[in-house]
Amino acid sequence: MTAPMPEFPAGFRWGVSTSAYQIEGATGAHGRGPSIWDTFAHSPGRIADGSTGDVACDHHHRHGEDVALMAGLGVSAYRFSIAWPRVQPGGTGPANPAGLDFYDRLVDDLLAAGIDPVASLYHWDLPQPLEDAGGWLARDTAARFAEYADLTAARLGDRVRLWITLNEPFIQMSLGYGMGVHAPGRMLLFDAFPVAHHQLLGHGLAVAALRARTTSPVAIANNYSPVRVLGDTDADRAAGAAYEALHNRLCTDPLLGRGYPDGTVNDPALVRAGDLDVIAAPIDVLGVNYYNPTGVRAAEEGSPLPFELVPLDRYPRTAFDWPVAPDGLRELLGWLRDTYGDALPPIEITESGCAYDDVPDADGRVPDPERIAYLDGHLRAVRAALDDGVDVRGYFVWSLLDNWEWAEGFTKRFGLVHVDYATQARTPKSSYTWLRDVIAAARPGSAR
Ligand code: FCB
Repeated sequence: MTAPMPEFPAGFRWGVSTSAYQIEGATGAHGRGPSIWDTFAHSPGRIADGSTGDVACDHHHRHGEDVALMAGLGVSAYRFSIAWPRVQPGGTGPANPAGLDFYDRLVDDLLAAGIDPVASLYHWDLPQPLEDAGGWLARDTAARFAEYADLTAARLGDRVRLWITLNEPFIQMSLGYGMGVHAPGRMLLFDAFPVAHHQLLGHGLAVAALRARTTSPVAIANNYSPVRVLGDTDADRAAGAAYEALHNRLCTDPLLGRGYPDGTVNDPALVRAGDLDVIAAPIDVLGVNYYNPTGVRAAEEGSPLPFELVPLDRYPRTAFDWPVAPDGLRELLGWLRDTYGDALPPIEITESGCAYDDVPDADGRVPDPERIAYLDGHLRAVRAALDDGVDVRGYFVWSLLDNWEWAEGFTKRFGLVHVDYATQARTPKSSYTWLRDVIAAARPGSAR
């Protein structure tokens, strides 16, 4: 077994994360409208196993059981996302109270269990009618997002203990509108830049809307990947810098008051006077989603991209083929501190986790020693970053449950809890028990 986990500061947040479309199901319930992910998943050939999120983990009906699993784990916080198409089925207009009722109950159940509700407003499920009007390529979507934030905070206000505006705007732009791998499936390459700008503008407008409704802290969750340059030519280093500017800085520099990195968003017709001030509205927390570093070298001549992504051979790999690199998390946290200095707000790791092909054994247990090793390594990396002087306030495991992993459908299992999709039976894996013990040592009496 592993050595005892070092101590974390008192009040450190221990959490788990999920998102609406990946777990809720009940896509037609209580007037919910269609989102871009309903459309995308129902389009032939888009999802690896041909599945959809129509049922997913049926969490909409089983949230009581899922909150009990969290209470049993002893977490102090739960990060979930609110489905915009439940709140505004058409993406505009008044709130649909029946759609909000579900989150109202969930939030109350969490509070009753001593778990802080942490709500993301946007985890990629844009109402389809807004996509039909241009989606995130349209400036108006930013204003619509702020309106939705206002309606949601009017109902859930201070009971949500941390608000997160957007999840991973860079991934929404690159995979959704740049490469066509995620909904809405557009392949615009660098013509997708307006998607980043309009999301960030929507974030800034939503921060103002939230501040008017709640005193709870406000954050955004970005995906980060430390860049490892492979090769030692100037062209390789330039490729590394180009990738860094996109993945790590495009959606952080403007948030922290620096404008867009050179060579990225620079169209004055897109970035209007005052936009950068709106985007740089102070946030209380920076959410950091970390999975792996990225290997980069110079692109072949004629490539449409200014870099080439290359596998990093020296690490073990998850079932997603992602390298397991806890050192990358410490490196990333140090990079954020060194790059942004005093402008950097306190950090919460809002996602960290791994997929493995976990199967129940003959006794019905689900051993997942690789996930235990993964979490152990990444928690130690956070501890090391704290020792380096980085202000990290919490760590949320992706994910509580095995769930519907976007274009991979049900083929990638990220959960601390195994889900049998045929029966919806939940079985805590060995990593759940391991993490419960780690949390219990840090928060005596936490598990209920
Ligand atoms: C992140 C997403 C999350 C999940 C994990 C594996 O990029 O935010 O929904 O898919 O990856």
